[in-house]
Amino acid sequence: MERKNSEYDWSKIKEGEVTLLVPSLAINQKEPPKFPAFFNPAAKFNRDISILIYRNSIDQSRKNISFVDSMCGLGARGVRVGKEIPQIQKVVFNDFNMLSTQTAKVNAMINNIYHKSNFHTSEICSFLSANANFDRRATVIDLDPFGTPAPFLDCILRAIENDGMISITATDTAVLQGVYPRVCYRKYYGIPLRTRYSLEIGTRLLLSCTSLVASRLDLYINPIFAHSYRNYIRVYCKVSKSNYLANKMSDKLGYILHCFECGYRELMKKGPSEVNCPLCQKKMRMGGPLWISRIFDKTVIFKILAEILETETRTAQGANLSKQEMNSNKRFFEIASKELDHIPYHYNSDEFGKLMKNSTHPLTKIIDKLITDGFNATPTIFSPTGFKTEANLREIKYSLSNL
Ligand SMILES: C[S@@+](CC[C@H](N)C(=O)[O-])C[C@H]1O[C@@H](n2cnc3c(N)ncnc32)[C@H](O)[C@@H]1O
Repeated sequence: MERKNSEYDWSKIKEGEVTLLVPSLAINQKEPPKFPAFFNPAAKFNRDISILIYRNSIDQSRKNISFVDSMCGLGARGVRVGKEIPQIQKVVFNDFNMLSTQTAKVNAMINNIYHKSNFHTSEICSFLSANANFDRRATVIDLDPFGTPAPFLDCILRAIENDGMISITATDTAVLQGVYPRVCYRKYYGIPLRTRYSLEIGTRLLLSCTSLVASRLDLYINPIFAHSYRNYIRVYCKVSKSNYLANKMSDKLGYILHCFECGYRELMKKGPSEVNCPLCQKKMRMGGPLWISRIFDKTVIFKILAEILETETRTAQGANLSKQEMNSNKRFFEIASKELDHIPYHYNSDEFGKLMKNSTHPLTKIIDKLITDGFNATPTIFSPTGFKTEANLREIKYSLSNL
């Protein structure tokens, strides 16, 4: 009879350039267990993206570049960073689960990065305030909690070097997408909107909350990248010390007005109390404050694309990388490189089938038509059927009416 895996069984898997020891249940069960140590194999894409971003955004001229995997689980991200980004000189692993940090230690050993690793078993905030404070701040800190990162924003911001980088995951997407608006308001200081583009709104709420906490500490954030898919949101920001720029933080925040009757949406700098939809005259609902400015550093994205291109050439000559994985990373960053990321909302191609009571047109056809009619329009990484455009709803409908 075949024996089922128990929590005491371990397996070795390959991810990126590393080998990881992981609980067998994490790869066989639908929901990865928290005991003995948490590992989510489905987060591989998300870790691949983070390696590309860290590698292409860290200033090579910096000294003593350190990476803190502040909620490391069994160390998947930190071990990959240590192995795949040689310019990172020190990797610090922390988790309050002792079995996690013990496994991270084994994983650091089998991947030959033990000599440049430190391990701690502490609650994140007491760990950061004791080990990464003032003269020992970190160059990059990753925050990857179960659920909301909101309670930990202060402590990672206090522990980061000037011009360092923070990366943050939120998996409380129901809250950020508007299922529990009161919870969202108290955790992220902003009102969400349950719309077809709520994941993008959630991403921008996380950024605005991070910027507000940062400005309380005289810090200023500059988003480098942000993406979300189904149950996670992830943002990357450079953090700099500047009272002057912290004062200007509010320029980057604003509100979205959405009409739930006809789908009209609009950006507002100040939060009005009541506004009626200019198209159908119904009362509009307001979301925010949220980050309404750019969310991508396009220079970093172009560097990533150049790296992918170079790896493709090497792969053709026998390097060990899956072509399929490389293609999906390339497609993802190609879309991001063109995305109109200063527009804080998008439309979905199928919305217009319903709105205009005709058949839905393919995304590329819609974008091409808008461009022909003189509007800027691009796909978005926030939805496979989504597009951004400078045209408003009335203009889009007019443009599509003679498609
Ligand atoms: C989502 S998992 C991290 C996964 C890991 N970053 C990866 O890429 O595989 C969250 C981890 O945070 C740890 N954790 C949760 N709350 C914590 C806290 N307050 N302080 C330190 N660790 C914490 C958990 O034990 C768990 O291992």
